[in-house]
Amino acid sequence: MNPVRIAPSILSADFAKLGEEVRAIDAAGADWIHVDIMDGHFVPNISFGPSVMKAIRPLTDKPFDVHLMISPVDLYLDAFAEAGADCITVHPEAGPHVHRTIQHIKGLGKRAGIVLNPATPAKMLDYLIDMVDLVLVMSVNPGFGGQHFIDSQLKKIAAIRRMIDQTGRAIDLEVDGGVDADSARRCIEAGADALVAGTAVFRGGPAAYAANIAALRGNG
Ligand code: DX5
Ligand code: ZN
Repeated sequence: MNPVRIAPSILSADFAKLGEEVRAIDAAGADWIHVDIMDGHFVPNISFGPSVMKAIRPLTDKPFDVHLMISPVDLYLDAFAEAGADCITVHPEAGPHVHRTIQHIKGLGKRAGIVLNPATPAKMLDYLIDMVDLVLVMSVNPGFGGQHFIDSQLKKIAAIRRMIDQTGRAIDLEVDGGVDADSARRCIEAGADALVAGTAVFRGGPAAYAANIAALRGNG
């Protein structure tokens, strides 16, 4: 398996210095930049939209891993593609036809991801796994950083690892929510190869980012 990719969630960044924060996590060893988009409707919080993402896009060459928590999601796919998304990840509950939504993302020339909420079973992937590039397992209910990791998701991660291996395709298996050094190790053992972290990366300010990212890789 590839070494684990670390995707800091800029939801936990200092928004007053967002550009500096993106440069700092890039320099600290982030593999991807995780961008959480929340609409106050699909989830009970509002973050920011494509114009903010577009403004920070030139500040790093790292891939933008865009997690859309908006409904209806289809209306905004083009805007996030144009704003510089590399991978666009959607919740099946965020629109009436998730298969069509994934087709739309692929048609935009972007990597497509599907994200499963804590109560959404792995089985929901049965007729989608052959068309996605990434599966994201939510280990908290989406909407806020700083929540506790839900242990029951480890079993789901392991089940999805088996499903991915059966496809023979290189599909990323990412986990999002409450990831710290301890839960990171358990996610990797269960088969995850990419980890989102907000609180655990941004705590302590820029001087701590490199050590925080290294700790998530198990090099603490
Ligand atoms: C939650 C978001 C996460 C969150 C992660 O809805 O999708 O990306 O910001 O933050 P932590 O690592 O603090 O749980
Ligand atoms: Zn996220």
